[in-house]
Amino acid sequence: MRVRRLLRFAAIGAAVVVLALAGFVAARLLGGKTGGLMQVVKASPEVVARGKYLAEAADCAACHSAPGGAPFAGGLGMASGFGTIYATNITPDPDNGIGRWTADDFWRALHDGVRRDGQQLYPAMPYTSYRGMTRADSDAIYAWLMQLRPMKVANKQTALDFPYNIRLGMLGWNLLFLTDSLPATSQGSGSAWQRGRYLVDVLGHCGECHTPRGLLGEMELSRSLTGFALGRVAAPDITPAGLASRGWTPASLGTYLGRGIAGPNSAFADMHQVVVLSTRNLASDDIAAMTSYLLGDKPPAPTVETVGEGNPAGRTSYVALCAGCHGLDGKGIPNTIVALRNNSTLRLADPRNLIVATLDGIGPQNFPHRMSLPGMPGFADKLSDEQAAALVNYLRVAWGGQKPDVTAATVRALR
Ligand code: HEC
Ligand code: HEC
Ligand code: HEC
Repeated sequence: MRVRRLLRFAAIGAAVVVLALAGFVAARLLGGKTGGLMQVVKASPEVVARGKYLAEAADCAACHSAPGGAPFAGGLGMASGFGTIYATNITPDPDNGIGRWTADDFWRALHDGVRRDGQQLYPAMPYTSYRGMTRADSDAIYAWLMQLRPMKVANKQTALDFPYNIRLGMLGWNLLFLTDSLPATSQGSGSAWQRGRYLVDVLGHCGECHTPRGLLGEMELSRSLTGFALGRVAAPDITPAGLASRGWTPASLGTYLGRGIAGPNSAFADMHQVVVLSTRNLASDDIAAMTSYLLGDKPPAPTVETVGEGNPAGRTSYVALCAGCHGLDGKGIPNTIVALRNNSTLRLADPRNLIVATLDGIGPQNFPHRMSLPGMPGFADKLSDEQAAALVNYLRVAWGGQKPDVTAATVRALR
């Protein structure tokens, strides 16, 4: 492991030196090319409609529409270890947005991670996944964006710490980590599986959250979709084995992507937004394609119900604080309170989502098809670290089939 890391650093050093030179020349050649004419795009209504659908599948809004801000006018800040990176205005405004961008310029941003002025984008813009997009799909998204209302909203300045403020450095990063296609995470071959692979890995960029990241923020492709902690909340393992171990079937997974609530789980944290802005808009054959890729042509048999004993102290807290809503038997209330029995959050080996949900609670959330859940209060004030650990261990054993290995220290670290 250590040798691999060292080699990686050596390779990065060499690549950065070579490419800094090449990049310097390129930047000179391309510098200042920011003017140009306002573009007028002629596209059929069918292409524009397809562009809208594809932009939803690719969830451009998740980052380019800030909460409370004008749609696609940018402004959402994304924290990185090196400073905050702001998503930009991608409405057709000529000065702040992409009004002067041609379809070629747009394609270069999505495919190569290069801005119109020749500067490198940071991979906070997931061109690492969009690189697999077809040119026709990029053109359709462009055609749709270009007929939105132009928004005069200035871009916020991204200012990273040295040396990450040197965008040219991304040339070396791209050389090391930008690949034309991401490795398949399941076995399959049919057209639905192929389409699903494109929807999951390219448009849906699911791996940007669900794939572990290495030291330099790159997706570790040898462990694609095996899950990653995004700070306090983790995106779980969504490989066929991971999904089946928590009870997912093609049917429940399809329901989850379309509605956000399914037998094993109701979407919360970042995943709630993915469902509401993106996957809920997909046609049923595309949802089916995604599940056939996620679980593979031959889905593994889901793990059946696991019921265990659990520690008495945890049970006492459960009865006092949780059972009023989730039920003494953990079965919840249909359409109102999700079941905890066999809930995939309890079945995760990584306990952090269960701990964070217990401490913070979950605000009221709206779901597709006019469903809404009332939310749950947080219990951070009512439970000591020890009590919370005992409660979580109780739940992991009683209904999750997991080990009771959560300590008070684990809870404290997540407060
Ligand atoms: C996960 C967040 C995220 C998603 C999803 C996302 N973007 Fe971005 N995008 C960004 C960020 C952040 C930047 C600015 C990066 C930088 O400053 O280097 C950016 C930059 C861009 C730029 C360059 C604009 C400029 O003025 O330089 C374009 C074009 C763009 N995105 C289009 C899209 C489109 C189209 C989609 C959907 C297909 C999309 N983005 C999805 C985060 C995102
Ligand atoms: C912005 C980050 C992010 C993106 C992008 C994302 N997810 Fe998630 N996902 C999460 C988080 C965080 C959770 C855990 C919260 C929860 O269970 O609701 C999650 C949970 C899930 C679950 C539930 C797993 C379980 O066993 O409970 C599934 C299934 C899932 N995601 C599939 C997908 C698919 C498919 C995509 C791409 C279309 C995707 N996710 C994109 C962050 C993300
Ligand atoms: C007032 C009712 C209420 C109480 C009390 C309550 N919950 Fe919840 N809980 C909910 C609702 C509603 C949701 C679904 C929220 C959503 O996803 O939008 C939920 C979701 C969860 C989830 C996430 C599972 C999923 O699939 O979304 C966990 C874990 C959880 N509760 C654990 C607990 C624990 C542990 C306690 C006691 C310490 C507790 N809850 C007390 C109402 C409650």
